[in-house]
Amino acid sequence: MIKPHGSDELNPLLVTDAAENQKLQDEAKGLKSLTISSAAAGNAVMLGGGYFNPLTGYMNKADILSVAKDMKTSSGLFWPTPVVNMVQDAGDIKAGDRIALKDPNVDGNPVIAVMDVEAVEELSGDEMVEVAEKIYGTADTEHPGVEAFLTAGNVAISGPIKVLNYSYFSTDFGDTYKTAVEIRDEIAKRGWNKVVAFQTRNPMHRAHEELCHMAMKRLEAEVLVIHMLLGKLKKGDIPADVRDDAIRKMVDLYFPENSAMVTGYGFDMLYAGPREAVLHAVFRQNMGATHLIVGRDHAGVGDYYSDFGAQEIFDEVPAGALELEIFAADHTAYSKKLDKVVMMREAPDHKKEDFVLLSGTKVREMLGNGEAPPKEFSRPEVAQILMDYYQGLES
Ligand code: ADX
Repeated sequence: MIKPHGSDELNPLLVTDAAENQKLQDEAKGLKSLTISSAAAGNAVMLGGGYFNPLTGYMNKADILSVAKDMKTSSGLFWPTPVVNMVQDAGDIKAGDRIALKDPNVDGNPVIAVMDVEAVEELSGDEMVEVAEKIYGTADTEHPGVEAFLTAGNVAISGPIKVLNYSYFSTDFGDTYKTAVEIRDEIAKRGWNKVVAFQTRNPMHRAHEELCHMAMKRLEAEVLVIHMLLGKLKKGDIPADVRDDAIRKMVDLYFPENSAMVTGYGFDMLYAGPREAVLHAVFRQNMGATHLIVGRDHAGVGDYYSDFGAQEIFDEVPAGALELEIFAADHTAYSKKLDKVVMMREAPDHKKEDFVLLSGTKVREMLGNGEAPPKEFSRPEVAQILMDYYQGLES
């Protein structure tokens, strides 16, 4: 079985022993506390479930700058994006404190983790911009990921954490939310050797469905793990519960039985394009996948990234740093001539009008008007779920 990133065994930071977990909860009541950002809570959930193995907590300033610049921590561990707990004002919290981190996303702000603070360090304005430019390719605050990063604050509170729960992900998405430990265990139990992961933050249309089939066939994979983001998205993106319903419907109706697992992870979307694709690869390796599909404009937003920048960045990954390989896919679309979804570069005789191509804006407009996109674009049962959602928004 593929090894986790950076260690032989997965080391999830959730305290699973009930008595020990309760002890920490009791202790937390007497500790200084801090309500963290949604992004920092997402990091805790990822650390808790083993996805961010082998990290043991939040990065310090030296690691943040090193990861931004060279995709490795100061100790040399390959890592593509800072895993941080940034605040605007650390108050009286200082190095050496043990503190309770409170969850901003759950009513009453319960404690999500206990942290041993190793450092409280400020990043200058220039350093914040430098990190944003390296990670997101821009410091433009119109970019939703940059906006979230720059508004969270410039003070990094770093140190190891012990995680107490999976926030709202395990309660709101009980059937779909899975930890890296759970997925890895399932893969081991089934004895699957070739496992393809599909990252998504969108409902799956025909192009996505066929992309998954193509990847499985060409890689001779035994299973597809559809692994959807369940955390926060930018305005206008489809919420996780609706997407979950739409994806499950597609799998039920159009995938051979037991060929695909429908799962999700608890993390806010960064929209960091290429750097986020590398992070996706790291945590899919941790959950036991051997391959990750990376298609067109993976983890992108607006016009910030080139169509295949998220594939090209893998050329910069040092040899041996990752065991997982990507399945680099071309733009897929339905060919009217061939009557099936194809990779566009594999139909060189086609003109643009030979494909069914619809922009995201057009599709949203159609669904909002209660009009199903053509069946070559969306499965009718999937379109129905999305139309119901959009029409509910308007009433
Ligand atoms: S993402 O932000 O999670 O990457 P999305 O859910 O839209 O967004 O895409 C999931 C995966 O499918 C990504 O790898 C993306 O590159 C790929 N993808 C989406 N649409 C297409 C398409 N038409 N052709 C090729 N790849 C695609």
